[in-house]
Amino acid sequence: MLTNSEQQEILRRRTFAIVSHPDAGKTTLTEKLLLYGGAIHVAGAVKSNKIKRTATSDWMEIEKQRGISVATSVMGFDYAGYHINILDTPGHQDFAEDTFRTLTAVDSVIIVIDSAKGVETQTRRLMEVCRMRKTPVMVFMNKMDREGKDPFDLMDDVEQELGITVTPISWAHGQGVKFESVFAVADGIAGREPLSDKEKADMELIEGVYPVFDKEAYLRGDLAPVFYGSAYKTIGVEELLKFFVENAPSPRPVEAVERKVDPMEDGFTGFCFKIHANMDPNHRSCIAFFKICSGKFERNVYYKHVRKDQQMRFSAPTCFMAQKKETVDEAYAGDIVGLPDTGNFKIGDTLTAGENLHFKGLPSFSPEMFKYIENADPMKQKQLDKGIHQLMDEGVAQLFVSQLNGRKIIGTVGQLQFEVIQYRLEHEYNAKCRWENMAMYKACWIESDDEEELALFKKRKAQYLAFDKEGRDVFMADSAYVLSMAQNDYKHIKFHFTSEF
Ligand code: G4P
Repeated sequence: MLTNSEQQEILRRRTFAIVSHPDAGKTTLTEKLLLYGGAIHVAGAVKSNKIKRTATSDWMEIEKQRGISVATSVMGFDYAGYHINILDTPGHQDFAEDTFRTLTAVDSVIIVIDSAKGVETQTRRLMEVCRMRKTPVMVFMNKMDREGKDPFDLMDDVEQELGITVTPISWAHGQGVKFESVFAVADGIAGREPLSDKEKADMELIEGVYPVFDKEAYLRGDLAPVFYGSAYKTIGVEELLKFFVENAPSPRPVEAVERKVDPMEDGFTGFCFKIHANMDPNHRSCIAFFKICSGKFERNVYYKHVRKDQQMRFSAPTCFMAQKKETVDEAYAGDIVGLPDTGNFKIGDTLTAGENLHFKGLPSFSPEMFKYIENADPMKQKQLDKGIHQLMDEGVAQLFVSQLNGRKIIGTVGQLQFEVIQYRLEHEYNAKCRWENMAMYKACWIESDDEEELALFKKRKAQYLAFDKEGRDVFMADSAYVLSMAQNDYKHIKFHFTSEF
């Protein structure tokens, strides 16, 4: 049994991600939260993890980026008796899949919106993932110190574009240059002398139109509380943080294939959602990031690596306080531990106190871009194969192998990932690759209850079939037409755009 104080440790944890479209103010807000938590003492201490396409070659940026992102992967600090873990997500959209995986390790999300721009494309995609997982979200309307959209229009925008009911918790006194503070909507208008006539009218409208904040609805992912402010000017940030720690969920139960795992359970369980390779090619080691789903993790205690059916213990697990990595003796459900690794782990792996569990919800998404990968140095075939496999285990991109001719196809979310792979193969594995363009529209995972039809499909479409890394059948359609014809002709075959169905 967990002791009382161990249970309290779990209950006081708040593990979340801040997500936004690039430039909305995620880095600035993160930094201000860290300042409130006393985790940093000067503004400017958090490096933006943006990869900017500049005159410098991209891979230089990538290397810098990888250095920064270890430090900012998880930022832990204490505030008002709560223990907060902020998980960083990559800003660049070519790494969207990393962001989706990170979202599987959080218990809630804060969405930052630029009040001059409203909801933008990347915010929409991120919200889809939150909705799929029923992750509770709060919304911070940032940059109210600039002339922006009307606060009511912004809320309409969120409701329509993100498909979630909202209710304002704080409201702005003024906007643009006149913006200087926020006030609590819940206080109403009675006895509120400082409110202008316009603000009183706003409060009446809010009372008439928006629901009262309902914590249960928020925790179900049905209602998003909204805050207004300026991260840059540190206005409205403390209001958000206070409300957040009091209302955001402590670690939530996690679904495994076998059963639902409760954070308060005795036995430790956790899953790997991210692998970070060392930047030094002479020391090929990684950090595997595990989200603890239940119980307590302890240093030097044996745990079961379920996929490998092996007992392992860890002498130097790290936790992340502020921006520093520290060795820890114990960590609790909700926390993220970094385990030094030399190739034992891949994304989705489970560690437990002994039980055979497999956590769900780390799907691969159908990539957007595809290229054949070819060996450019015949003497280094082994190195190339090893590199490709390890990079795929890290989740850098997805590998497909043509069932027709055995050629290897790499699928990514964006062009930048091809550059990362080529660069890393060369610098970490001493292997050279070449890319060959291919016409490809979508990769979909296929499944059917109708064995006969499936067999017929596989025979007729042999030239379009590939295996994914787990050996599952994937249909590689080279055009929208080919896909829709296939869907039309084979009614009993399901075409899935994520690997988990
Ligand atoms: P991101 O991580 O979401 O990509 O955004 P980031 O915090 O880096 O902010 C993007 C830009 O917006 C930065 O300006 C930042 O200073 C500015 N910003 C963030 N919050 C606010 C706000 O509340 N009000 C105003 N007016 N600006 C804000 P930059 O010029 O790109 O960088 P910097 O030179 O200011 O560092």
